[in-house]
Amino acid sequence: MTVTFKKLHSTFAAEVSEIDLRHVQDEHTLAQLRAGMAEFGVLVFKNQHFSNQEQLDFAQRMDGALHAKTSSAVLAKNRFGNEALTDISNVGQDGSILDASDRRRVSSISNRLWHTDASFENPAGRYSMLYARNIPPVRADTQFADMRAAYDALDAETKATIDRLHVYHSIVYSRHIMGFDFSAEESAKLQGATHPLVRICEGSPRKSLYLASHAAHIIEWQIPEGRLLLKDLMEHATQPQFVWSHEWELNDLVIWDNRTTMHRARSFDDIKYKRELTRVTTLDLPRQQVASAA
Ligand code: OGA
Ligand code: MN
Repeated sequence: MTVTFKKLHSTFAAEVSEIDLRHVQDEHTLAQLRAGMAEFGVLVFKNQHFSNQEQLDFAQRMDGALHAKTSSAVLAKNRFGNEALTDISNVGQDGSILDASDRRRVSSISNRLWHTDASFENPAGRYSMLYARNIPPVRADTQFADMRAAYDALDAETKATIDRLHVYHSIVYSRHIMGFDFSAEESAKLQGATHPLVRICEGSPRKSLYLASHAAHIIEWQIPEGRLLLKDLMEHATQPQFVWSHEWELNDLVIWDNRTTMHRARSFDDIKYKRELTRVTTLDLPRQQVASAA
């Protein structure tokens, strides 16, 4: 089937023409969707009807091996019995809203910082696919930043300075600065990971800035100088011209490429209203390794 894309922002993000992803099996359609991801970085699919298993199955067809090592797995047993299906909600095992002081809630508040998923792992996250199962009656948007447009807009001197640097990413670091501390035992499972600061992904010759709240320091530099550079780049990349907001409707599926975008949740009254989404994130393995790992 032929897929068309309607652009949602001047530099990135698109809505995909009507399609029921539960039934997309053929390589021809999947290849068009992957090409759309390479071009737009964020794709919005309206009116999906996934069971948990159907969401997992589609993610595997779309991109191969799934990420099952999420930080939430360290804090609580997964509500759905499958660590690859991340519970992006403000409810507990019994479906009632989490208390303000619940550790799962306090940790997930950090999703409101600009980040990319699983950058503190190796392999990191490639595509994240977030599906809206229950949304509040108030705005609770997810915002995205175009990290290729942000790279392109840097001056030549900055590009030359940063091109070959590496960044250490740690969720223990990013949560700590928000006042949330993992125990020693939990931290031992969250060692962090090092990735290039500037990357090129398959399917597009463009360079992208790979930042995130989890970015703790630059490997090649002294810590304070590296942290300042990261702060400057984060500030640059999240200027309004690089940002697009998704206002959720029930049954939306949004897929983003964690290598070419950052994202953050916007706040809402999460003690009053339920918000329940499920996320599947794929492993950022070289494409040729995906087939054997899947
Ligand atoms: C995520 C995430 C943002 C949101 O699922 O990885 O950061 O708005 N979600 O829930
Ligand atoms: Mn996220």
